[in-house]
Order: sequence, then structure tokens, then C-alpha cells
Amino acid sequence: MYFSKITALTLLAPSALVSATPVFKNHGTLAGWDGVNHEHKGTVTQVDNVSYNSGTSIKVVQTYDPSYSGRYHSEVYKKDVYKVGDEGFYGFTFRLHSTWDTSGKQSYNIAQFISNLADNPDNTCGDDWIPSTMIWVEGNELAIRSKGGNMCDSVLKKFTIGTIKPGTWHRVVLQAKWASDNSGYLKVWLDGKQALDKSGLITTYRDTQKKYGFQFRTGLYANSWHDQHRLDGNQGTRQLWIDEVAIGSKFEDVDPGMQQ
Ligand SMILES: *[C@@H]1O[C@H](CO)[C@@H](O)[C@H](O)[C@H]1NC(C)=O
Repeated sequence: MYFSKITALTLLAPSALVSATPVFKNHGTLAGWDGVNHEHKGTVTQVDNVSYNSGTSIKVVQTYDPSYSGRYHSEVYKKDVYKVGDEGFYGFTFRLHSTWDTSGKQSYNIAQFISNLADNPDNTCGDDWIPSTMIWVEGNELAIRSKGGNMCDSVLKKFTIGTIKPGTWHRVVLQAKWASDNSGYLKVWLDGKQALDKSGLITTYRDTQKKYGFQFRTGLYANSWHDQHRLDGNQGTRQLWIDEVAIGSKFEDVDPGMQQ
């Protein structure tokens, strides 16, 4: 009797504390996503000769083209992973190609949360797709940002997560509280060690209707090539692999675990 009461409480506690977050798992395949977005010369493929554990992974490639002025996404995405007020855990592994050039300072985004806020009545500046948190590679560092509040005058903060090495798998777990006031937080574990713990953050945009679902996207988005209208250095083809992507309400739901 006593035991079953404790068990019941243990089972009930997480759902009482955490808003409903869909649980999603992907072991490096193109199945199960809500979509794939690859622009210009970019590709997104499932491969079976590079993998974290499962035997497959998602290979993403982007190629710089000086005569092209559009964006450079090569991403898979899952819709509606959070709304304002939610808390959740998000995990994935990534491996930069062993020859990835880390000498420059341009940023290469590998994960982001984004929503089309064009119809959000709190949005008076007319932008449509607006990312909140993004995680990117800059030189040999992994970085993250919080961004949100008023989409016409948003608050952005950048944080360094840690050092990364081309040719090796890195595992990332993010815990976030999505708030449009400063009650949000971001916590990140890199390769099993907590690397960031920031609270008092604005982590998403105003949404008084609590209606707008954000997508989780992962892959390669070579945002600097578009934003800065140039390629620094001469590695105009960039490739990386993504594996073990998960979304859940507990650390254990999304932790990729050690590589076997
Ligand atoms: C995986 O296979 C592709 C296509 O055959 C090949 O180009 C690539 O070098 C292989 N990668 C590794 C790490 O073996």
C-alpha cells in the first residue's frame, strides 16, 4: 500500500510540474519528421556509414554560391514542440566533418526553434518566421542564444556552451522554460556535463493567446553566408551529421547516452 502510494506520486509529479510536451525520438532517419527543408544546393540524406549508435544518421550539406542571395537551410523539422509557458527537454548528437574548417568566425546554425508569427496579434512589425533559441558552431565553439519578448524590439543574449572538435560526435541536451518575460531559463549539457545554467531569461516571444507552436529544426543552416553576403575562408561546402534527436519532459527522455 505504502509502496504504491509513493509510486503513484512519483508518476504524477512530473506531469503536474511540466506542461504537456510531446515525446519524440529519431534515431538518424528521415522518417517521422514533419518535413525537410533544403534550399539551393543543400542536401539532407539518410546515410548508413556514419552513425552515433543506431547504424544510420542524417547527413546535411550546404554549398556556398556567390550568385545566390537566398538562405542556406538543410534541416529536418518537427512542429509544435513548445508554446509560451511550456518547459521541455531537447536532445541530439552532431558530428562535423573531420575536415571542417574552424578557423573563421562565421556561424553555422545546427538547431533552432522557430514559428510563423505573422498572424500573432502581439506581432506588430510584420515579420513572419522568427526563431527564438538557436544553437550554432562558431570557430571551434558551440554557442546558444535566448531571444524573445516583443518581436519588434526583442531581447537577445548569447552564451558560449563549450569547445567542439570536427570528426567526433558531440551530444547536446537542452532544458528550456519558454517565457516571454524574464522567468525563462536555458540549461545545456554538452557531452554529459552541464555547460550552461542561465535563468532570468526571456526565451520566446509574446503570445497572449498562448497559441503559436514553435518548430524544432536541426541540421545545417549556414546563416552567416546569407546574413553577411559572403563566405569567409574557402570551405564553401560544409557537411555534418545529426543523430539521436529527442524531445521530452525529462532529461532521460532525450539524453542520447554514451556512444557504444
Ligand atoms: C560514406 O559513404 C559516402 C558515399 O559512398 C562516401 O562518399 C563517404 O566518404 C563515406 N563516409 C565515410 C565516413 O566513410
